[in-house]
Amino acid sequence: MAHEPDPRSMPETLCFDMYGTLCDTSSVTETLSAELDAPDALVGELDATWRAKQLQYSYQSALMEEYEPFWEVTGDALAYALGQWGIEVDDATRERLLESYNHLDPYPDAVETLTRLSEAGHTVTVLSNGNPEMLETLAANAGLDAHLDDVISADEVSTFKPNPAVYENAADRTDTPIGNCRLVSGNAWDVAGAGSAGMETAWVNRANDPFERIGVEPSLEVTGLSEVADELA
Ligand code: LAC
Repeated sequence: MAHEPDPRSMPETLCFDMYGTLCDTSSVTETLSAELDAPDALVGELDATWRAKQLQYSYQSALMEEYEPFWEVTGDALAYALGQWGIEVDDATRERLLESYNHLDPYPDAVETLTRLSEAGHTVTVLSNGNPEMLETLAANAGLDAHLDDVISADEVSTFKPNPAVYENAADRTDTPIGNCRLVSGNAWDVAGAGSAGMETAWVNRANDPFERIGVEPSLEVTGLSEVADELA
């Protein structure tokens, strides 16, 4: 007797978010501490302001239709964060702080997760707001590049997630119907947006946060990357 295939065993195009999902954006705190000789509490505030402003500026530039690459957005957000916390640095120091975005730590289970999912027959990609150069550099430095089938950037459509154009472009680029693509992200707003654009999703909710109140709820919720492999491999 023929059995219906388990939908969870069907190969999908998995689109991993980079910043905050495969790599830990808070690893910039090491460089902030070393360069600024600031107390841990201030470094923590700077880190939080930098990341929050980076996301806000990406949404703002998309809404204003004044696209600028994520590297510039990240630099502007850093300048804002330093200003907000009253820290003056010279250009060379600010460049070194920004450069830490090229050397973020991968989460410890990132490589193993990508490998298991790839071996299970899924297409494994990055789908990120980062511009291609910063994504390629980070993927190489973090040792992720050899485990990826593709790196897809929002830059290709000159806007940012959660604009549906970014998710739709990933489906087009990988020649996969959007309903057979799954965004895997630690960012709830990203999951809400991908679901709204028609993707399946997996929310890596490491901090036990409540989900967003707008957008589409995750198809799958886990607490770490390796659980994504447990569920889908
Ligand atoms: C990404 C960031 C914004 O797209 O999380 O990788």
